[in-house]
Amino acid sequence: MKIRKAILTGGGRATRLYPITTTINKHLLPLANKPMIFHAIDKVVEAGITEIFINVNPGETELEQYIGDGGHWGISIKFFEQKGGPQGIAHVVNEAKQFIGDEPFLFYLSDNILLGSLKPLVEEFNRGDFDCLLALSQVSDPERFGVPIFDSAGKLIDVHEKPANPPNNFAVTGIYLYGPKLFFEAFNKITKSARGEYEISSIHSLFLKDGRRVGHKEITGWWKDTGKHEDLLLVNQLLLDKIESRELPDELVGSAEISGVVHIGIGARVGDRVRLIGPVIIGENCVLENCTIGPYVTVGQGTELSGIQITKSIVLDNCAIDCEENISHSLIGKKVTIRRRATEASMLILGDKSIVEL
Ligand code: G1P
Repeated sequence: MKIRKAILTGGGRATRLYPITTTINKHLLPLANKPMIFHAIDKVVEAGITEIFINVNPGETELEQYIGDGGHWGISIKFFEQKGGPQGIAHVVNEAKQFIGDEPFLFYLSDNILLGSLKPLVEEFNRGDFDCLLALSQVSDPERFGVPIFDSAGKLIDVHEKPANPPNNFAVTGIYLYGPKLFFEAFNKITKSARGEYEISSIHSLFLKDGRRVGHKEITGWWKDTGKHEDLLLVNQLLLDKIESRELPDELVGSAEISGVVHIGIGARVGDRVRLIGPVIIGENCVLENCTIGPYVTVGQGTELSGIQITKSIVLDNCAIDCEENISHSLIGKKVTIRRRATEASMLILGDKSIVEL
């Protein structure tokens, strides 16, 4: 039977991305001005999946409001709560047991963003030679990930979760394919790890110990896990490098100095002395005046920028930034105000765990 169903993650606390994620679900953070999880859904749909089940934190409705029922993609999307809150990603899959039934499925961690297509993986799995297929990618910091362990003949024999001394540079990415029923049988046999989670790597270890057919395939093109601020900014840049043609409302042409690929949303106002150096995406209804934006900047809807120079940054919706500063490698949340100081000393009102370099 071919894979039709996928489980996507949408819950968790994302503490490594504080303070931004204290008020927004990580999966809704914009990358190239599109919510992170939309990139994941695009990839899964392109690979032929027609039913998606997304887990959400108990009581949280934000994701459902943004994503809807899947009509936008021409498929079905349903949401389910992870009872008891986050307990590891293997637990997320087990909570979706009733939706998956006796079918094979794809499990995708929505904070994994990749350049290429999932089609080759899904097609390889659909040929029927494997009980489980793991997507691998070469990384410089394998200790942050699940790492495949190979014997001297190159045969996959185990998967270690975040090993202190990884024996190779491969990460098991958050893209997994499973045959019918086996995952749920294995889940009943694993226990929580030292960090208190049901680890997905424990499932794969058990499969290998039980002699299941666990395949692996290296992902082509870049793959990133957006767990930290610098990863988000890097993925934003990589995605911006992919945008090809300019999108400028007719009335704006000629009013600003524009180079490279620039997208400007409907209703945005571009005033005097504005330089846009692509790749740049400016959201709808933004107001720009006397500023230099780009390269590698995305600005959410309704943000006002004046006096500022910004490169390599993500600015979210409805911010008001008016000062003669130069900002780079920054992640600025919704409704943030940055303005010229009125006195000798700077005045700061910052939430918990904010980061400022003065
Ligand atoms: C999880 C998995 C890990 C995998 C990674 C991929 O780690 O536990 O095996 O390599 O996703 O993104 P986490 O991001 O939950 O620390």
